[in-house]
Amino acid sequence: MLRSPLPGDPPPPPGLGLLITAPDAPATPDHGWWRDAVIYQVYVRSFQDSDGDGIGDLAGVRTRLPYLKRLGVDGVWLNPFYVSPQHDHGYDVADYCAVDPLYGTLDDFDDLVEDCRLLGLKLILDIVPNHCSSEHPWFRAALAGAPGSPERAPFHFADGRGEHGELPPNNWRAMFGGPAWSRVRESDGSWGQWYLHLFTPEQPDLNWRDPAVAAEFERVLRFWLDRGADGFRIDVAAGLYKHPELPDSPDPEADERTRDSVNPLAWNQPEVHDVWRHWRAICEEYTARDGRDRLLVGEASVPTPAEQAAYVRPDELHQAFFFHLLHAPWDAAHFHRVIDEAVQDIAATGSTVTWVLNNHDQVRTTTRFAAADELSGGVRARAAALLMLALPGAAYLYQGEELGLPEVDDLPDHLITDPIFQRTGSRVGIRDGCRIPLPWSGLESPFGFSPAGAKEPWLPQPAHFAAHTAERVLADTGSAWHLYRDALHLRRVLPQLGEGTLRWLDTPPGVLAFVRGEGLLCAVNFGDGPALAPVDGEPLLASGPCPPGILPAGTTAWWARDGRSF
Ligand code: GLC
Repeated sequence: MLRSPLPGDPPPPPGLGLLITAPDAPATPDHGWWRDAVIYQVYVRSFQDSDGDGIGDLAGVRTRLPYLKRLGVDGVWLNPFYVSPQHDHGYDVADYCAVDPLYGTLDDFDDLVEDCRLLGLKLILDIVPNHCSSEHPWFRAALAGAPGSPERAPFHFADGRGEHGELPPNNWRAMFGGPAWSRVRESDGSWGQWYLHLFTPEQPDLNWRDPAVAAEFERVLRFWLDRGADGFRIDVAAGLYKHPELPDSPDPEADERTRDSVNPLAWNQPEVHDVWRHWRAICEEYTARDGRDRLLVGEASVPTPAEQAAYVRPDELHQAFFFHLLHAPWDAAHFHRVIDEAVQDIAATGSTVTWVLNNHDQVRTTTRFAAADELSGGVRARAAALLMLALPGAAYLYQGEELGLPEVDDLPDHLITDPIFQRTGSRVGIRDGCRIPLPWSGLESPFGFSPAGAKEPWLPQPAHFAAHTAERVLADTGSAWHLYRDALHLRRVLPQLGEGTLRWLDTPPGVLAFVRGEGLLCAVNFGDGPALAPVDGEPLLASGPCPPGILPAGTTAWWARDGRSF
């Protein structure tokens, strides 16, 4: 789909000539906008602190919207900002319809909606339906209620095994380490039943077989849609339903070991699809009123792209993150295979693939793709980004990737806040390193993240962030920021990009090349040495310097032709 240039868009790069065509008038004001949208993920806690407490907030996000507009994204996804004791930084929600005072107020949210509307940015919220906080009023009531009482129905309470119920009801393990069950004290002080939590004990799993749970989430969706949200990123979207008998798992360590959704009794139960059909119907109801598509994007971690496709059938979620690309090593054959699988399986549903390389749970690509040195990681991360932005479908960016930020992997143990560390005692998989507050300007911490005189940022920013401030990368036309901005601009004006077909070209091992809509060629050199460029002529855009006829190591380049096919 070709999007219209927006007011304030910079002029197209010179030399594009006939490649830029006039936009078609859409059938409804923005029907299907999400099919090839690029959404920027804001981890609110680490984006911009406006009140000086060292923690990012909604008013801070608002001040940076012009920056995001300038970058050229279509919208913003905000990580949870609801009332929460913050055991998992907001993924433990105690009140789904209120803003945590750490992050501001409902008025701040309303202001943000208004500014997003003015700037033409979509606003996507994060909804957490698999579990709530142990401080949610429902869970407090459940603890006060008796075994078998209606107060316990919204959760999974069960008697323990063993002579005195001293063993958990089954052998499931939690994603963040330890058993997936915790035992409660009943109101008389004696040890009692156990409750299920697939993450931390402070995140009790909700029981979606209780109709009150579905009704409550419908209320929550409508609350935020009525306030102007354009859609939701759905946390743990393959969760929600568990096997009704909660039997032992044949591979109890699976979830804990891989932190992926592989306990088939706890994840991906068929009933979950009915929830997404219902939520889609709610979104369609709002679209019918004003012609604006609402978006549901799921974090549906399921083993295969084919299983993932079930989540984006036409009456279910619009999008589901395609994590197989995010888990891919820097390897041409691997990238080729997962891209093919995604395009084929998801296209069969009529939806588009939703690509992602970074998010708040993963080691940043600059570090993930590093070979012997950080530098090659940065080079490859840029190449991977330019590859992703050439693929057919939608894409999500994570804050800071446009600044070329590396993972911070040397935080001292006592500063680590990730519950994974507390629960496992291991640094494997901890997520603080990709959540360090953003550097905006200046030469030392807080790098413009907080106002003058503020408390220290909630996680320390290393001195080397000085090389990655927004101020610095904006001033350097060879920076990652300008690459992202140029690529996003070209996606907006070139009909070959965004939704559409992909045709692979024959290439030597270690190089991938594909053609989009005939007029645009993207090639990537995954190797350690230079390769021959697949076409002559200067690239339209490249992730690094490209001498004539050469595609250097760790480089992606786009070439465009008007009217002629590659
Ligand atoms: C999702 C979130 C992650 C969170 C977990 C539990 O995987 O992305 O940050 O810890 O769900 O809600």
